[in-house]
Amino acid sequence: MMNRTDLSFYRGKRVLITGHTGFKGSWLCRILVNAGAVVTGYSLEPPTNPALFDMCGLEGKMNSVIGDIRDSEHLKEAFAKAQPEIVLHLAAQPIVRDSYKNPVYTYETNVMGTVNICECVRQNACVKSFLNVTTDKVYENKEWVWGYREDEPLDGYDPYSNSKSCSELVTHSYKNSFFNDMDVAVSTARAGNVIGGGDFANDRIVPDCARASFAGTPIVVRNPHSTRPYQHVLEPLAAYLMIAKAQYEDKKYQGYYNVGPDESDCVTTGRLVDTFCEAWNKVSDKKASWINKYDGGPHEANFLKLDCSKLKSTFGWKPRWNFDEAINRSVEWYNVYDNNGDVAACMDRQINEFFG
Ligand SMILES: NC(=O)c1ccc[n+]([C@@H]2O[C@H](COP(=O)([O-])OP(=O)(O)OC[C@H]3O[C@@H](n4cnc5c(N)ncnc54)[C@H](O)[C@@H]3O)[C@@H](O)[C@H]2O)c1
Repeated sequence: MMNRTDLSFYRGKRVLITGHTGFKGSWLCRILVNAGAVVTGYSLEPPTNPALFDMCGLEGKMNSVIGDIRDSEHLKEAFAKAQPEIVLHLAAQPIVRDSYKNPVYTYETNVMGTVNICECVRQNACVKSFLNVTTDKVYENKEWVWGYREDEPLDGYDPYSNSKSCSELVTHSYKNSFFNDMDVAVSTARAGNVIGGGDFANDRIVPDCARASFAGTPIVVRNPHSTRPYQHVLEPLAAYLMIAKAQYEDKKYQGYYNVGPDESDCVTTGRLVDTFCEAWNKVSDKKASWINKYDGGPHEANFLKLDCSKLKSTFGWKPRWNFDEAINRSVEWYNVYDNNGDVAACMDRQINEFFG
């Protein structure tokens, strides 16, 4: 198998992406539209203001359907019209803190949303490849130092993480009960924290860095000592596209895959912010700096390390951009944005360099 994702495979393929108006979804749409895929998106309006989706120049190049994943009739209608061969499910309420504020909505979206998309896959024989995007937080966190493997128990702690564990279980049941007897391959991908240009979500560290740097104010860091696995957004997206292609061509590649960075790219938030400030200060006149303000927020699981041996041995996959590169690319994008530059062109440059 190849490590380089062969994007030419996607030329002319009908692909349906849920959550296309989000951070990862916008990058994914841009990659697929550039590759010549026939892309349909189904999701709510972009979750942030400003929103990457609105600035990455996809109008007229894909079919964007605005709808709620909980609205099964509307989803079915959009799905039946699109007749996708490949389905990538990203729509979710993805913020841990928001899941404490609104657990019911989080479960409805992340669990019933998965049931609804699985139903569409079950009822439309056009689908050959289905990938459910979950998270590294799906595992029961044993607070140990070893990397979690794909066969470890699933039982996320907070409502977000736990709803994603449930989303995994829903997928497993649909696979066993229906998809195994159909001509459709199904996988889940459990990825870690991603960073990259164009994320404007609240309560995520790189967008927090960018917002403060635009304003020329210090970045407020809640927990500089917590370690997280950071990877550039293009890393998991390339892995999703690699898995979706491989299982489309041969069902034996379907499975459950961890997608994470190498251990050296698991860094503390303090190091991340230092690296961001250093990179930002090289390209901008507005000086970036940060202050430590631990605010004692709700429980967030300690660092949970992924063992990505399965993805590596199955596909010969390895991460392409290390942590410093991922920060540099993020800073490059936010600086273009801050100077009213062409962010879509910046995305294309980064996509071409990454996949080239
Ligand atoms: N960003 C990360 O670090 C990260 C890490 C691991 C996994 N993930 C997963 O990747 C996926 C995408 O995350 P993201 O960072 O792009 O998040 P995001 O918030 O930027 O995007 C979420 C998308 O889901 C859509 N959505 C939310 N609720 C919906 C609903 N009820 N009906 C229809 N659409 C709805 C939004 O409109 C948006 O398009 C999510 O499934 C998330 O759990 C993200």
